[in-house]
Amino acid sequence: MIGSDAARAAFSPEELAKLERMLLVYEWGQRTLLTRLSIIRDGLLTSGDSCPIESIQARIKTPDSIAGKLRRLGADLTAESARGILKDVAGVRIICPFSKDILYLVGLLRGMSDTTITDEKDYVSKPKPSGYRSYHLIMEVPVFHSGGTENVPVELQIRTEAMNFWAMLEHKAKYKYDKRVPDHLRAELVLCADKIAELDKRMFLIHEIIALINEGD
Ligand code: GTP
Ligand code: MG
Repeated sequence: MIGSDAARAAFSPEELAKLERMLLVYEWGQRTLLTRLSIIRDGLLTSGDSCPIESIQARIKTPDSIAGKLRRLGADLTAESARGILKDVAGVRIICPFSKDILYLVGLLRGMSDTTITDEKDYVSKPKPSGYRSYHLIMEVPVFHSGGTENVPVELQIRTEAMNFWAMLEHKAKYKYDKRVPDHLRAELVLCADKIAELDKRMFLIHEIIALINEGD
């Protein structure tokens, strides 16, 4: 049983059972994508160059959090509306060393046969007003199971380690202040996001210089 007491109170027993079944299939979709990503990573690691994937994280939204988001959106508390409205129930995050790795990975993902990219947001070249930077994709992953084939959306976030460092802290600040972060702190976070983007660039230059020196050896 996945549902907590809060989820059991939010969804009717029938809807909670449907949601739990849906979450199982979403978890299979996430697992399918994770397997593919780990194969890509293994291939890149054996190529001898520095690997553009530093680490991979994954999470599935809980029924509590699904209920909270559906309520905020004013939607029905049903598995069907969760399926129709929420595209981030299954989430995967790829952390890269450098920002040029992000576009390289997006290129690889575009070529992934039988998965479709249904939405794409480039918050790296167009950061959010908060300063948030990441590349977001919604990928429809086909899941073959005993009941047939289902396409499952998985939200993929790709960001550098530095962008991730910033996003985790900013998220903590939003959580702490219940999304009403004081202006001075918000301004400081925007400043830090810009500095982090600058740092990403400078670190990449150092990386390129080291690579050139290695070539000359
Ligand atoms: P959500 O309703 O939050 O899913 O937003 P959305 O559907 O408009 O999608 P968007 O691409 O804007 O954001 C999706 C996810 O990106 C969020 O759930 C967060 O994980 C992350 N994200 C977006 N904006 C920010 C931000 O300003 N700060 C941090 N820390 N994370 C963000
Ligand atoms: Mg989200």
